[in-house]
Amino acid sequence: MGYLGDAMDQRQACHEPAAGEISLCTDQLCLSYGSKQALEGVSLEIKPRAVTAIIGPSGSGKSSFLCCLNRLTDLTAGSAVSGQVKVGSTEIYGTQRHDPVQLRRQVGMVFQRANPFPFSIWKNLALPLRHHGVRDKQQLRQRIESALQRVGLWDEVSDRLNTPAGALSGGQQQRLCIARALVLEPSILLMDEPCSALDPISTQRIERLILELKERYTIVIVTHDLAQARRIADHVALFWSFEGKGRLIEYGPAPQIFHHPTHELTGAYLAGHI
Ligand SMILES: Nc1ncnc2c1ncn2[C@@H]1O[C@H](COP(=O)(O)OP(=O)(O)O)[C@@H](O)[C@H]1O
Ligand SMILES: [Mg+2]
Repeated sequence: MGYLGDAMDQRQACHEPAAGEISLCTDQLCLSYGSKQALEGVSLEIKPRAVTAIIGPSGSGKSSFLCCLNRLTDLTAGSAVSGQVKVGSTEIYGTQRHDPVQLRRQVGMVFQRANPFPFSIWKNLALPLRHHGVRDKQQLRQRIESALQRVGLWDEVSDRLNTPAGALSGGQQQRLCIARALVLEPSILLMDEPCSALDPISTQRIERLILELKERYTIVIVTHDLAQARRIADHVALFWSFEGKGRLIEYGPAPQIFHHPTHELTGAYLAGHI
């Protein structure tokens, strides 16, 4: 399916995945928190093994959208979702719904503030693995080492795996949280402003990591940092709030969005006029 200049015209975005890839798409997705509608009619097909950046003003529903993609919305009392979210061939809010624990293994989330468990580095990674039935010591060790290698932490922490994760620097804690998602071997990684609490060097480290990870994972990142979106995004989706309801107003390849946006709000937003 080709890109459409005006994403509000997207219909029936969901299609069958190519072999070996877990597809992710939404179709006419709406979300309400009680009487407040936060998202309206969002239809978006996320490209596999690429970085999709979700940008837009504060309150336009970016975080809410991410939470819909692995049913974190279930944890907010009074939230209601309509429309479709499809992960692979499964409609995650449909009748054959995924077990949310399995879904969140497959679709991992990294939050704005690093939130390691108040335990050792080792236990931060061993706990989710044990929760998913991995008990064998050797297998635990191998998967933990591999996840830490993947985020570039192994050389930094391999001699202190039993020290508290809270003693790591902010950037290391965020990489540990990424490792905690990766240790469960997800297909899709959701990231909600993962660098907004980090210094420039740690931010650069995480951006490099994201570019490495996209070879293997589908990444959806919310960022308020347009320069960051320019540096790492392959595709960009712009959300906007209309009378309090977040909508997708434009979606396309990053160069197209940044250099030839079709929606006048996109142009104004990127130029810093709004
Ligand atoms: N748990 C909640 N209960 C009620 N309203 C919420 C809740 N979470 C977010 N909202 C509202 O939904 C809208 C979208 O919020 P959010 O998804 O956080 O936007 P963004 O991430 O783009 O800043 C905002 O108006 C926000 O106040
Ligand atoms: Mg947000």
